[in-house]
Amino acid sequence: MNDVSENTYLENINKAKTTDELKKIEIELLGRNGVINNLLKKIKDIPPDQKREYGQKVNSLKKKIEEKIEEKKQILKKNSTKSFFDKTLPGKTYPKGSLHPLTYIIEEIAEIFSSLGFIRVSYPEVEWEYFSFEALNMPKGHPARDDFETFFIDFPENKQYGKMVLSPHTSSGQNREMKRTTPPIRMINIAKTYRPNWDTTHTPMFHQFEGLCIDKNINITHLKGTINYFVKKFFGPKRTIRLRPAHFQFTEPSFEIDVSCGVCGGTGEINNKKCKVCKSGWLELAGAGMVHPNVLKAGGIDVNKYSGWAFGFGPERCMMMREEMAIDDIRILYSGDIRFLENF
Ligand code: DAH
Repeated sequence: MNDVSENTYLENINKAKTTDELKKIEIELLGRNGVINNLLKKIKDIPPDQKREYGQKVNSLKKKIEEKIEEKKQILKKNSTKSFFDKTLPGKTYPKGSLHPLTYIIEEIAEIFSSLGFIRVSYPEVEWEYFSFEALNMPKGHPARDDFETFFIDFPENKQYGKMVLSPHTSSGQNREMKRTTPPIRMINIAKTYRPNWDTTHTPMFHQFEGLCIDKNINITHLKGTINYFVKKFFGPKRTIRLRPAHFQFTEPSFEIDVSCGVCGGTGEINNKKCKVCKSGWLELAGAGMVHPNVLKAGGIDVNKYSGWAFGFGPERCMMMREEMAIDDIRILYSGDIRFLENF
């Protein structure tokens, strides 16, 4: 009995991989014919003056072995419950991430217009006043500018372009697109837009998509045909549109576009009662019109050669109208509430 053999015994215990293996080692060491008992039996051959020390050593070794075996037993027990595998138990499900619902909607919109040959573009969200207003026939001090309540950025004014703003609508992209390229133009500009409103129907950040078509001999029928195509693809083949006269500074003539209500089928009634969703059979969808000559001129387009139309939609509204979502507070879309987002 020496330190080397002691270490070997303890190491062997440590190496045991199963309880059976450990049992075998236990018998080898502590069994009736085991190492410890054999050492104890040898005590008769030890000179009397060394018997005491010898006995103490054997007992201390026995104790160490017993402790080590106990410790190892616990470890093996713990591990065996850990690796317990029951293939009949249901698997673990991990939470699955997804894109924001509006991202899916935007992709879908982009695809519909791309199938008609519209090029998706992207213009600055931090924009100059000029592109948001002047270039759209809304000079400084024009009251129509008030309709587009605007976030102003604390940044030195630009001599040519005025103050820096957060783009209040995607119409800002019209002038940039006219300057970027030459007709024929088929633009779809889908972007974040900003206005300082915060209530159940407004968030300070929202989205718009802007269509712009400029070419020779473009007229209202092209506008109507394009929006009709979009509406049938996006909302379904039964939905129809109507144009109502309206006013925007950047289009002449201007229209509001309505889409027939999907809940009452455009009749405005369900079982002889007014449809609660639309009240009239129609839902307001977008603004549109023939691009004002001043806007074309600002974009460097020859108004004697070209004409065009434009429209502006809100994808949030499109999504809620299509999914017939009864959202009483639009802010939930951007609250980051996982319970809401998980539904998509
Ligand atoms: N820019 C308008 C808004 O934010 C929407 C709009 C109306 C865009 C008419 C257009 C248009 O292109 O022709 O309310």
